[in-house]
Amino acid sequence: MKARPEWHKDFFKNSFYNPASPAAVAKAPAEAAFVLRQLKLKKGSALLDLCCGPGRHAVEFARRGLAVTGLDFSAEYLKEAAARARAKRVKVRLLRGDMRRLKFCGEFDAVVNLFTSFGYFQKFSDDLKTLKGAARALKPGGLFLIDIVNGAFVRRNFKPRGWGEMEDHFLLESIALTPDGAQNTWIRLPKKGGKPLVRFFFNRLYDRARLAAALRKAGLKPLKFWGNFRGDPLTVRRNRILCLARKA
Ligand SMILES: C[S@@+](CC[C@H](N)C(=O)[O-])C[C@H]1O[C@@H](n2cnc3c(N)ncnc32)[C@H](O)[C@@H]1O
Repeated sequence: MKARPEWHKDFFKNSFYNPASPAAVAKAPAEAAFVLRQLKLKKGSALLDLCCGPGRHAVEFARRGLAVTGLDFSAEYLKEAAARARAKRVKVRLLRGDMRRLKFCGEFDAVVNLFTSFGYFQKFSDDLKTLKGAARALKPGGLFLIDIVNGAFVRRNFKPRGWGEMEDHFLLESIALTPDGAQNTWIRLPKKGGKPLVRFFFNRLYDRARLAAALRKAGLKPLKFWGNFRGDPLTVRRNRILCLARKA
């Protein structure tokens, strides 16, 4: 099955999926620390967490003294991000918006986009709009850091089916590769019984060369690549691509 063009609108809802699983929340401080080591920002610098979701990284950036804005499409996740910021006693400006239509201009010292929050659209031109919007949002010389799944790893280690166990449900996964990316079907089976929920999503697969070309097209010059948040080199054996780029 093919994901419909605006699939994100009913996928990113607590009733189906939440990226802030206990395991993901536990990783956020170390991930945020790695990001900040690369960005080398002064206290008070302005950072945009683009597609911040439930704010697990945004609150960590704020705890370390940055002026953080989080933007996301999901109203439910933004509510959770606000609660997380209150619990941590930090200030985060939270905005609802679409990553393709960013209105910021020269406002941020850095923009980050973490945990494969990119490549969701059927048209590459929409991915490019996102990157161009991020570039426009940056001050001259500002930094962009992106963390996405490594398309080269996915193609090399392709498994058409998978499953996982979460706290209250099982997740069954079916993936079809296309020349452009991956069409994914997720089936959520509640452990206590009840109706399974089915959702489809698309992610355009980027390897190093494809990501670098897209960044350059958007006016962002790639500076460094890594294969994980420990700073190991990017190879086809790593399942992530992290890239630091500078506004040209
Ligand atoms: C995989 S989650 C990652 C969230 C967060 N960065 C994290 O690491 O927990 C992807 C996020 O992208 C957001 N998103 C999806 N499509 C979007 C769009 N068109 N505009 C803005 N946000 C979007 C979702 O709501 C979700 O919060």
